[in-house]
Amino acid sequence: MSKVVVFDHPLIQHKLGIMRSKETGSKDFRQLLTEISMLMGYEITRDFPLEPIEIETPICKMTARRISGKKLAIVPILRAGVGMVDGLLSLLPVAKVGHIGLYRNEETHKPVVYFCKLPFDIQQRTVIVTDPMLATGGSSCDAIGILKERGCENIRLMCLVAAPEGIRKVQEMHPDVDIFVAAVDDHLNEDAYIVPGLGDAGDRIFGTK
Ligand code: PRP
Ligand code: URA
Repeated sequence: MSKVVVFDHPLIQHKLGIMRSKETGSKDFRQLLTEISMLMGYEITRDFPLEPIEIETPICKMTARRISGKKLAIVPILRAGVGMVDGLLSLLPVAKVGHIGLYRNEETHKPVVYFCKLPFDIQQRTVIVTDPMLATGGSSCDAIGILKERGCENIRLMCLVAAPEGIRKVQEMHPDVDIFVAAVDDHLNEDAYIVPGLGDAGDRIFGTK
């Protein structure tokens, strides 16, 4: 069974509270999402292995440390996952970025794939899938499934707000994928929106409603 890490850091919780408020406009919502993504990125990379490297400071030779041979890819689920990319890239500037386009059919709530463009060597990379909302879990499960079909073996899922239903689904379908979230909310409503949630993440990021 995969692990679920809930980030209870005060900075993340403070910023998330502002994002949830319906008074917060797109500009601030985007900025806060970027800031939280950077803070989450700091934790999500905590177990990356280090290796020694010989360097010379202006004073003397020494053995420093660097992250060992980790090839990374960030794969946002379009649209809303894009809002988490810049925060991660500010910490991981050499990561490659792939995109998987999915939208939820508003009646069935099932995800529909409309785009997929991934780094050519994606199967050799540790992949961080980003999507602010893990609701039914359909979109994340399908995106992870697409990555596994391409040979990816090391996948992490980074979301902002999750419903218990979505976490259960990802854990059932992809027990090898660890899930990182800022909050686990109460439940889904009849439209499969997270309660209390923050509304439609894509619309709030891009100002489309
Ligand atoms: C939202 C969200 C997730 C999905 C979560 O995307 O960004 O991708 O819903 O729901 P699920 O867990 O039930 O699949 P949406 O379909 O609204 O598309 P958008 O990002 O283009 O707005
Ligand atoms: N997608 C969103 O953007 N918000 C939800 O609460 C559920 C799915």
